[in-house]
Amino acid sequence: MAPGDTADPRRAFFEQHAAHWDDDAAAQVQVRARLQALRPQLGVQPGREVLEVGCGTGQITDLLVEWVHPGGRVTAVDFAPAMLARARTKGIAAEFREADICSVPPGRRAFDLVLCFQSFPHFRDPAAALRHMAEALKPGGQVVILHLAGTAQVNAFHRQVGAAVAGDLLPAPEEWPARLEEAGFRMVRCMDQPDLFLVEATLVS
Ligand SMILES: C[S@@+](CC[C@H](N)C(=O)[O-])C[C@H]1O[C@@H](n2cnc3c(N)ncnc32)[C@H](O)[C@@H]1O
Repeated sequence: MAPGDTADPRRAFFEQHAAHWDDDAAAQVQVRARLQALRPQLGVQPGREVLEVGCGTGQITDLLVEWVHPGGRVTAVDFAPAMLARARTKGIAAEFREADICSVPPGRRAFDLVLCFQSFPHFRDPAAALRHMAEALKPGGQVVILHLAGTAQVNAFHRQVGAAVAGDLLPAPEEWPARLEEAGFRMVRCMDQPDLFLVEATLVS
């Protein structure tokens, strides 16, 4: 699916929600505090080239920019133009780019780290998404998939939201090693607890 193609119903879903995505200021404060506490575990370090996939309105992109300073850069991609339009109004020193991670890699051997924050279950073709992330990484690069809730909580939430995201589920923890391996990664760890899901993997080749 090229940018502009509306075949994935999730794109229209997130387009519709973009205008109100940032409304809950208190929730955003909490999210940012959690992210700050998790920072040592995320691999977002000074000098690194970071790709954020499914960045939405850029709610955490400014933190990533701060953490890669000095010398690093953040490229943040999403396939919903309205989400990106909001992100671009925030004056964040990142490159915001429209890209569908299930269709094309957003670069080749260009990044040290790919971070998917609260976005992975929405990728309609998770195998293709992982493959494209692998292609975007430099040799030895790292992928981190992060949620501030566990698998059961994330999946229950999406079922409750319904509509285009009702079936957007995080795979069970035991499925991750094989899924990652298929895309060329080796899983380093998988944490799944009620308030945190974190998968970290390294590109093998
Ligand atoms: C739940 S939102 C999370 C946004 C942001 N990370 C946050 O926490 O506020 C998921 C995001 O993934 C994006 N997304 C879904 N499928 C995508 C795809 N195939 N390629 C790129 N972005 C996608 C959506 O447009 C949406 O902005």
